[in-house]
Amino acid sequence: MESSGNLANDPLWREMLETGFLGDFPVSYRDVVDSTNVIAMDMARSGAPTGTVVVAGSQTSGKGRLGRKWLSPPGSGLYFSIILRPRLALDDLSRITLAAGVAVCQALEATTGLSPRLKWPNDLLLNGKKFCGILTETAGISSPDSIPVIVGIGMNVLNAKSSMPADLQGKVTSLFEEGETVYGKGVLLEECVARVLGQVDVLEKGDFNAIIREFDRRDAIKGKHCYWLTPAGAVVSGVSLGVDERGVLHIRDNQGRVSEVISGDINQKKP
Ligand code: BTN
Repeated sequence: MESSGNLANDPLWREMLETGFLGDFPVSYRDVVDSTNVIAMDMARSGAPTGTVVVAGSQTSGKGRLGRKWLSPPGSGLYFSIILRPRLALDDLSRITLAAGVAVCQALEATTGLSPRLKWPNDLLLNGKKFCGILTETAGISSPDSIPVIVGIGMNVLNAKSSMPADLQGKVTSLFEEGETVYGKGVLLEECVARVLGQVDVLEKGDFNAIIREFDRRDAIKGKHCYWLTPAGAVVSGVSLGVDERGVLHIRDNQGRVSEVISGDINQKKP
């Protein structure tokens, strides 16, 4: 089934294009960019206010985690980046990644009734297939008080299965495919931004445990067999024990050894 966005049915998106605001959030919308994360980082360095959102209709060089590309065709997807300057210790900035994943899940639960699950650190899945990814990037550290952090979110909203690359079919999905509904991108965007800012607030108040609890409730692989592709390229196989109070993932191999995962990639199929 093919589906495309329809502005007439998406008043918030239209309002964003007309006013440069989505609710209370200033939005910089561009039809085509290389990467909203790159634009947002440049804007942050030039002093754009915290909470500014950069939204694109499509990206020519959308960035994914671990140097991957994020396919960003026009029309079907939501591609945006939020400028943050969190009042957090440097060592705690990585917590934003888990907080953003929880926030986007909550936003989608509230607006679509769907129940996304999280694959550490911040892939969102529906029926075991990825439809949303988050890339958090930090600027060079000059003044720890005001380090810009960019949270970039890519979401397959209206993509039809037939339009997805053949090698990804079975691995990726969209809200449209899972919910059989043409969701308004404006509502999704506004709710996601509000929830991300809300969860960053929770972090700033020191309640990372609340975020870990919310992550744990939605953990897609806890108790399941998985493979950890380490940054050095080794593959560790075992059962995920979930995340601890620091946000570190634990994997127990079949000899009972437990690995602490702070980077790399988790897969349920052998990489
Ligand atoms: C991943 O799952 O690998 C993360 C994907 C993040 C993609 C989004 S799209 C908006 C923002 N701009 C980018 O270049 N990347 C992020």
